[in-house]
Amino acid sequence: MTPITKEAIRALPKIELHIHLEGTFSKEYVCQLAEKLDVPLPHDKEHLFSFTCLAEFLEMLDWNCSLIRNAADAEQLAYHFAEYAKEQGIVYAEVILNPTHWKNISLDVLVPSVLAGFDRAAQDGLPDCRLMVSLLRTQSTKTAAETVDWLTAHPHSRLIGLSVDGNEEAAESNERFSPLFAKAKENGLHLTAHAGESSGPEGVWEALQLLQAERIDHGVRAMDDERLLEYLKDNHIALNVCFTSNILCNIFTEENHPLKALFDYGVPVTASTDDPHILVDTMCYELEHIASLYGWGMEELIRLQYNAVEACFCPKEKKEMLRKKIEEFESRC
Ligand code: ADE
Ligand code: ZN
Repeated sequence: MTPITKEAIRALPKIELHIHLEGTFSKEYVCQLAEKLDVPLPHDKEHLFSFTCLAEFLEMLDWNCSLIRNAADAEQLAYHFAEYAKEQGIVYAEVILNPTHWKNISLDVLVPSVLAGFDRAAQDGLPDCRLMVSLLRTQSTKTAAETVDWLTAHPHSRLIGLSVDGNEEAAESNERFSPLFAKAKENGLHLTAHAGESSGPEGVWEALQLLQAERIDHGVRAMDDERLLEYLKDNHIALNVCFTSNILCNIFTEENHPLKALFDYGVPVTASTDDPHILVDTMCYELEHIASLYGWGMEELIRLQYNAVEACFCPKEKKEMLRKKIEEFESRC
């Protein structure tokens, strides 16, 4: 097997299933938008993306997103993401967009513009990007229902699912949002949920049972519940794990992070970046870092990509194409 090198990691066809469009603003882009709009920065450029806890982190996302105020800028941000994906050797991405962070642009403008950006990117030969629209755990049931109504009334081939993110301490959101997830499912949308990041294993159980989530974003706290681990493994429910994000958000340390233990247990895990630009992370760095920490070779990194193919929400033929790309790469390793 080819040894791990930066080039080999770059060449590996990669799949990103847990990335927030809100986390793809670069510092330069934020400064450029703020200058154009004549809005003062909340901190100097060096500390623009500083935070000490998840709540502050989520507030920072609000501020960045507030700078997008028209269709052209939203379309461009989506296109920029596809360019970044290409640079990283990502061949397919499912991108989360949470409309509650975007205070200065309506859902009606935001979602079609992002989809248009992904369409233009695909036409230009950039990676295939699909969209998951997310509810926020702390938003009202009424506004969440409005979002789901909008989604079900505006089907689009790149709009593939419903998600929920934000602070999982708002645990009652599982019950409140249960009928909304059921409605999305009835309308052909796939379902995922952030759980087991700022909640324990019970948050993951609830996402599976009350929200009917088909896979889990983060889910790392599942490690504390053996019965849950068995369930995830037996039912092929993937956890989209974001190692660097978990370290920076103080969920785990490098020493006690359960990614390797989950992998060894046989839970289908994927490696994702969550909010790459804000966390100064990239997909290639993420893989390089976990491989060096765990002594993994290309074999394990390839396994993570196969896991992502199984977990992704695209049509069967596309899945088959992605699987073939990885098989071809593997045969050359
Ligand atoms: N939105 C963006 N990143 C998030 C994270 N790590 N947890 C919850 N919500 C998020
Ligand atoms: Zn996330």
